[in-house]
Amino acid sequence: MYDPIPWEGPLPRHLAMIMDGNGRWAQARGLPRVAGHRVGADTVRAMVRACRRLGIEALTLYAFSAQNWKRPPDEVKALMELLLEYVEGERAEILDNDIRFNCIGELGKLPRFVREPLEELCRVSSGNRSMVLTLALSYGGREEICAAARRIAEEAAAGTLAPDAVDEAAIESRLWTHDLPGEVDLLIRTSGEQRISNFLLWQLAYAELWFTDTPWPELGTDQLFEALRAFGDRERRFGDIAPKGA
Ligand code: FPP
Repeated sequence: MYDPIPWEGPLPRHLAMIMDGNGRWAQARGLPRVAGHRVGADTVRAMVRACRRLGIEALTLYAFSAQNWKRPPDEVKALMELLLEYVEGERAEILDNDIRFNCIGELGKLPRFVREPLEELCRVSSGNRSMVLTLALSYGGREEICAAARRIAEEAAAGTLAPDAVDEAAIESRLWTHDLPGEVDLLIRTSGEQRISNFLLWQLAYAELWFTDTPWPELGTDQLFEALRAFGDRERRFGDIAPKGA
């Protein structure tokens, strides 16, 4: 087990990250884009460790969007191979540290050689409770909301769900994130872009957003701590006039 990192002040229960800038980081060094993803996988390891040590309950990483299939086939293949390397390489550490591994997205679109090991790690780690690490793969927020809407329509058509019963809880329970703790509290995006890019659209409704120009391969724990301190200083009102809990 890792040693805990003591932290004073509020921490997000659910932290999400858009891991942007791998390609540009590599290209700026005259390297192929895939080299950026490879170093990016090291940042993933560092962030997972730090979040687990801090006691963050849920970490959700945007690893491959529903739109990333449009990338050149070589880059898609390399990303799938990196994912496989990641699940194989991190399996023992994830299990030893009581981390539940989880995936969300249109997982049926992933090639079998990576889908099966991902699903196996989800299965064997399903009883772990200290942190849930979710990879969003072939994921899109609009796609997730459409999938929930389709299920609701099917249940309504079958007569098992009354239209009046379609409230926020009914939608949330049909999202791919239904078994994660609450909505997202803090979103970190690297590499200078300030947008959501179809990530967790429903769950980010009241999230605090933190952006940095640092590309994902260079993100370090110092910057994670900076983002967490900034989160602690934010006043979260959720539409009310006083901060929640005040
Ligand atoms: C966006 O940066 C990043 C991705 C599409 C892939 C993220 C993948 C990793 C961090 C490594 C593999 C993941 C795991 C979980 C092992 P970009 O390539 O679009 O950057 P750019 O905007 O500079 O082109």
